[in-house]
Amino acid sequence: MRYTILLLSVLFLQCSTPKNLVGPKGAVNPYQYTSSKKVVVQNGAVASAHPLASKVGMEIMRQGGNAFDAAIATQLALAVVYPTAGNIGGGGFLVARRASGETVALDYRETASSLARRDMYLDAAGNVLQGKSLNGHLAAGVPGTIAGLFETAKYGNLPFAKLIQPAIDLAEKGFVLTDREAGSLNSIQADLAKYNTVKNAFQKESPWHGGDTLVQTDLANTLKRVRDAGAAGFYEGKTAQLVIEEMSRGAGIITLEDMKNYKAKWREPHIFSYKGYTIVGMPMPSSGGILLHQMMKMVEEKPLVTYGFQSPLAVQLMVEAERRAYADRAEHMGDADFVKVPEKALTDTAYLNQRMRDYKPGEAGSSQATRPGKLTHESEETTHLCVIDAAGNAVSVTTTLNNSYGSKTVVGGAGFLLNDEMDDFSVKPGVPNLYGAVGGEANAIAPGKRMLSSMTPTIVLKDGKPFLVVGTPGGTTIPTSVYQTILNIIDFGLRTEDAVYKPKFHHQWLPDEIAVEKSFPTDVRTALEKMGYKITERGSIGRVEAIKVLPNGSFEAVADNRGDDAAEGW
Ligand code: DON
Repeated sequence: MRYTILLLSVLFLQCSTPKNLVGPKGAVNPYQYTSSKKVVVQNGAVASAHPLASKVGMEIMRQGGNAFDAAIATQLALAVVYPTAGNIGGGGFLVARRASGETVALDYRETASSLARRDMYLDAAGNVLQGKSLNGHLAAGVPGTIAGLFETAKYGNLPFAKLIQPAIDLAEKGFVLTDREAGSLNSIQADLAKYNTVKNAFQKESPWHGGDTLVQTDLANTLKRVRDAGAAGFYEGKTAQLVIEEMSRGAGIITLEDMKNYKAKWREPHIFSYKGYTIVGMPMPSSGGILLHQMMKMVEEKPLVTYGFQSPLAVQLMVEAERRAYADRAEHMGDADFVKVPEKALTDTAYLNQRMRDYKPGEAGSSQATRPGKLTHESEETTHLCVIDAAGNAVSVTTTLNNSYGSKTVVGGAGFLLNDEMDDFSVKPGVPNLYGAVGGEANAIAPGKRMLSSMTPTIVLKDGKPFLVVGTPGGTTIPTSVYQTILNIIDFGLRTEDAVYKPKFHHQWLPDEIAVEKSFPTDVRTALEKMGYKITERGSIGRVEAIKVLPNGSFEAVADNRGDDAAEGW
């Protein structure tokens, strides 16, 4: 009898004590792990920039969480294992379709501090102070991620404490670096030394090597404060205090009030139809949804399918749509809470047809001749993740610090990098930002305003049900990468992995050139040059994650092969 009771209590203890999700014996082993680029599964899938983050998301769903829970846990894990872009010191956008059929969009973009001024990056002569909006304390907007995650949690099933625990464990116990991650950390040592006075976990006297373990104790403690006090554990109390102390060490301008006042905002998603599909995109302050709308509608009635995938005429047509949409971005788009953005006029069918009137198949257009549309009536580092569950929830999230490792400033004692999102404002009319994008009045700096983004988290519905969850990092190349991936699937009938992996091209009005990836076919390139285009070669364009729902209801999740991105599911 005594033995039976003992046995029963041991069994009970084993069942009731939750096994740690992260650890050498947990479902997610941060010291030794596998990675996959594609899965086809029935119950739930995650695609993100890091294998450990995708695994965390999947395990959360296996333990009863839905796609919203998984999206939260994956983002928090990315903030630890993918410090180039995963963040709690940055911001992002979420587009989702709930199991109920409702579509939602969440804006947790950074905001300019209440002390920000239109000319804060200009010297007395009105010239741009190079680098000030990109590196160091002054480059940072008030971070939005933690507020965004707590808003997202309204649609989840599990307690936030459970969703954040894997990230706490990854930070506290560490994870093993790959060669690529070690190299990346080595490449920013000089910047870290320049923009920080308090030592942080990324800094090391001798070089990092693949196989080293990165432990982030300060970050673990910050995450614990969030676990224990909710969003106030970040925006108030010790964490906020540490942010303010960091600001004072580097002439930054974020105040305690700025932190306390930060709010994520639910927005009406930007929705349009394309060839019988419904596209659900992000509205202002991201230009992503409107650009996608403009570009797709400008080619919808044209013979794209007859031209064929990456034929010179198809690429040319898509480029001319890109040119025109980006010209409008520069002139008309900015935070719609501050400036009037003529969204209806910009996406009006008659207007878009008019915009394409001077497009000539086989002949290069010119950005000199293509000015932003006259509207007379009002009618390299970010990260994307996609999650889907069997209940019908689909979540598409793009989140960023802007540049790789953001402003390179780590909040002393709090262990997280601050963004350099202020550079996404137009710091001076006509002066290009990091991504070569120009802007004007609509995207000028103002206190409390959100800088214009290109992030394009997107969900494509077919008959009202999720068909494709897609998105990517890549600055201004984001909308064009999403546009090309969707067209590759809907118009050109490519397999999901081909739609993601095939080389991409990009035109953004100014500069007047087509940027192509190195692997872009030479014959197409030559044909475009003959039409009169200037072609430039560049590194990767985008790192797309995509989940497609197959006709039998299975989820096909694909992670881009341009990075260590990984797809998980079961
Ligand atoms: O919001 C934006 O458009 C940019 N801050 C995104 C930056 C980005 O994608 C960098 N990634 N490579």
